[in-house]
Order: sequence, then structure tokens, then C-alpha cells
Amino acid sequence: MKRLRELLLMGEHVCPWWLAYSFDNPVRRLIHPPEKVLAGLVHPGQTVLDIGCGMGHFSLGMAHMVGRQGRVIALDLQEQMLTRVMTRASKSLIGDRIHLHRGPVESLEIRHEVDFALAFWMAHEVPDQAAFFHAIKNIIKKDGRLLVAEPAIHVSGSAFQNTVRTALASGFQLHAGPGIRMSRSVLLGF
Ligand SMILES: C[S@@+](CC[C@H](N)C(=O)[O-])C[C@H]1O[C@@H](n2cnc3c(N)ncnc32)[C@H](O)[C@@H]1O
Repeated sequence: MKRLRELLLMGEHVCPWWLAYSFDNPVRRLIHPPEKVLAGLVHPGQTVLDIGCGMGHFSLGMAHMVGRQGRVIALDLQEQMLTRVMTRASKSLIGDRIHLHRGPVESLEIRHEVDFALAFWMAHEVPDQAAFFHAIKNIIKKDGRLLVAEPAIHVSGSAFQNTVRTALASGFQLHAGPGIRMSRSVLLGF
């Protein structure tokens, strides 16, 4: 039943694993350098969550930022994405701080343990955003933050405002966040 639900969620709107090569490539480091995009948000020793991590551009970046004592939970619906994350992490000798989780964020069974969560270019693929934000709210620590970034070319301003409204209705509050190239973004907390 759980597997059936995951497959239904994946649906036609989920970015197929092979398409991720088109934006998660060496040029991405120039456009979205994780240590700059996430400066002041991710710190050594933290536990952080990369929701819809894809091939791991930000999971890898955050693994460097949290250091040896930190932990990155890289979560994605697609096995191929997670395999690629771990291959890249092993090459960089940081695989020990990355924990893979396959499935939607709602299936992550931890409560108030994550210091920071990132949903980068993925929220528009989620069919039920209210359930999505509700689940994340229960995973993040009370002083934690959630950064949502959506691709500006693909998600209109009004669609993004709907996403923000859904997040606020789920109990999040707005915080001052970074501007991110090619993206519409919002930093959320409590
Ligand atoms: C466009 S890719 C972005 C990947 C990555 N965040 C990046 O910036 O490179 C979106 C990813 O979100 C994943 N995804 C979509 N819906 C999801 C959900 N409900 N739970 C977990 N992952 C999801 C997809 O499988 C895909 O890998």
C-alpha cells in the first residue's frame, strides 16, 4: 500500500531522474554555489534535510557545510537519484554524513530533529502542498528553518504565492531569506 501511494505521488509531474543531468552539472556550482546560497542557514554539527534532493547538488554542499559531526538526510522519491547522490558523496569521501531516505517527506519518521530543511525546485511537483508543509513542520526543530526555492521559469509568481500562502496556513511564518538566482524563494520558520 505504501509503495502504491509512492508511485501515485510520483505521477507525471515529477522530474524524471535522467532530466536531472540537464541542471545538476558542473555549471550548477557557478549558478547555485551551496555555501553562498545557504550561508548563515547551515552550520557545522547540524542535522539538515534535503527534500527532493535529486542528484544531490545541495546534499553534497550541505554535507561539507555541516562537517564531520553533522548529518544530511537526502530524501527523494526516486531510487536513481539517491544512487547518484551516494556515488558522488563516496567519491568526495563524505558519504558517512549523508543518510538516504526514499519516499515522500511524509514517510520520514522523525520529530523536531532537523535544524534546517531545503526544498529546492521541487515543491511544484508535490500534489498536496498542505500535507507537505504539515509534515515538514513536524520534522523541523522549533527554532529551525525551511528554505523553499522554485524555478522562476517554471513556476509563476501567482503559483508561488499560493505555495507561500499554503505554508503560512500550515503554521509557518516568514523570515528574511536569501535571493537565489533563477528562483522564487522564501525562508520559513516559526
Ligand atoms: C527538479 S528535481 C530538483 C532536485 C534538487 N532539489 C536540485 O535542486 O537539484 C525535483 C526532485 O524532487 C523529487 N520529488 C518530487 N516530489 C517529491 C516528494 N513528494 N518527496 C520527495 N521527493 C520528491 C523528484 O523525484 C526530483 O528528484
